[in-house]
Order: sequence, then C-alpha cells, then structure tokens
Amino acid sequence: MNRKKVRPLIGQGKVADYIPALANVNPNQFGIAVYGNDGTTYHAGQAHTDFSIQSISKVFSLTLAMKHYGETMWERVGREPSGNPFNSLVQLEYEAGIPRNPFINAGALVVSDMNQSRFASPHYAMREFIRRLADNPNLHSDKVVSTSEYEFRARNASMAYLMKAFGNFENDVEDVLHNYFDNCAMQMNCIDLAKAFSFLANKGYSRHNDEQVLTARETTQVNGLLATSGLYDEAGNFAFRVGLPGKSGVGGGIIAIVPNRFSVCVWSPELNKSGNSLAGMAALEALSESIGWSVFG
Ligand code: DON
Repeated sequence: MNRKKVRPLIGQGKVADYIPALANVNPNQFGIAVYGNDGTTYHAGQAHTDFSIQSISKVFSLTLAMKHYGETMWERVGREPSGNPFNSLVQLEYEAGIPRNPFINAGALVVSDMNQSRFASPHYAMREFIRRLADNPNLHSDKVVSTSEYEFRARNASMAYLMKAFGNFENDVEDVLHNYFDNCAMQMNCIDLAKAFSFLANKGYSRHNDEQVLTARETTQVNGLLATSGLYDEAGNFAFRVGLPGKSGVGGGIIAIVPNRFSVCVWSPELNKSGNSLAGMAALEALSESIGWSVFG
C-alpha cells in the first residue's frame, strides 16, 4: 500500500460528534486487517484496537434476518441505492414507509424490527451471532455509546415512528431503538471484523467455525447490496475508487469484500462529509489499485 497517499489524510477529516460519546476517540489512529479464505491473517497499524462498529452492524442484522425470513423480508425493505445520507427521512414519506435498502438507518431499523419479532432477547441473539462469526467470546456492546445514542435518538425515532404510521413496524419503537443502538455500539477491532465477514468472501461459508452462514446465492445478493448501497450517497464514489462490496460506520471502520478471496477491515476515526472514514477509503483505494482487486475488471 502506498502510505504516502494515506498518512497525510490523518488530521483532515472530522470524528463523528453527533453521538457525543464517539467524539472522545483519539483521531490519530489507523488499522487494517485482511483475512484470506485459507485462514491467513495480515494486519498493520492499530488492528488490535477496539472501536465502535456502528453501521457495520447493519450487515450482521441483515444476515441474521435473511437466515430467518428468506425472501419474505423484501416486502418490507427495498434493494435500491438511496443516493441520500444515511439518516435522511425524505424518501420515507413519499415511498410509503418502505426504506430503499437495509443499510440506510431506516432500512436497518425495519430489519431490527424483524429480528425483534423473531428473538426473545434480540441484542443478545445478535451478540452471540457476532461472537461466533468473529470467533471471539469476549465481544460486547459499549453502554456509554448506546446510552448516548438513545439520548440523541430524535432522527432515528422519527424514521421508526413514520414507518409505524405506514404499517411497516411491528414492535414497540423504543424497544427496537434500544436493540438497534446496542448493536451499533458493539466494540470490535479490525481483525475481529475481517474474520467475522469472511463468509461473504467465501460463498457464505465461515471457515473458522465450520458454518454455512448464508447460501452461496444469498452471499452474492448481500455483496450486490453492499456494492450498490453500503456507502450511502458515496456508494458510486466507492465503486469508482475501490471497486469492492463494502460497508462503513461512523466509528471510522469500513469492511470490504474481495469475493472468493479476502475480507478486509480498515479503521481510522476521522470521517469525510458523507460519514465515511477518510483515510480508510484512501487505504482501500491504494490497496485495491495496487493488487488489482476491483470487481469491475
Ligand atoms: O444510527 C446511527 O446514526 C448510528 N448508530 C450509525 C450510523 C452510521 O454508522 C452511518 N455510517 N456511516
């Protein structure tokens, strides 16, 4: 990787501060991990430092819901890019409470509502699922972060209540919000995340715990959605610069999938205007360019 293209960006972005508990993170950090389908792990920088996974959790929630709902879930959430910021409300009103995709906040809230209907303790079901995928029994959610998110929940609560008004929300909104924030506040490091998402690079199979997490077909579907909607209103730019299915979080993490080969996680807390890690994007671009990883040929 060309460090000269990445290092100067540290100091140029802005750590997420709309969730006050996230504003305290040291911005001057960078980590990367790559997990190969043969089980080999490569890492550099602060790959062992835990951070808040935030919207990366939306991929775990979707995977869990797909396992339990199959095709029927797509009646309640779309599969199109939104072209809008992750927390935008505008499309929801004129599209009758059906969110564009499972990776914008409204879509993830509907998916969380589905998981809420299916599990007695939805966050614990999710935590166990993530622990198993990452092969790390110590993973946990940061209560300070989730409490801070709940306190400043107005936008997410508005989306959920609007969907409820349209009949696309089954459970108590406040209960679902608590579980959604607990999932977003999971603390993981780059190695945990690269390992946890290895099934998406391996036709749905998780090698380290010998589990077919999704079918091969479902895996290509999730990767397709990640490529078109994983980076919100920057999905096109990410396809252009990196050319991989990916998902970002406002904690500064980005996961990317090199189908049939590697799962990757980069982390650097400072974000660009779309809420995606500035140095993380540059690192993935440099890596993809130098190794020829883009899925677009
Ligand atoms: O609900 C929220 O706004 C946050 N818990 C997650 C947002 C997020 O990570 C968007 N990703 N870039």
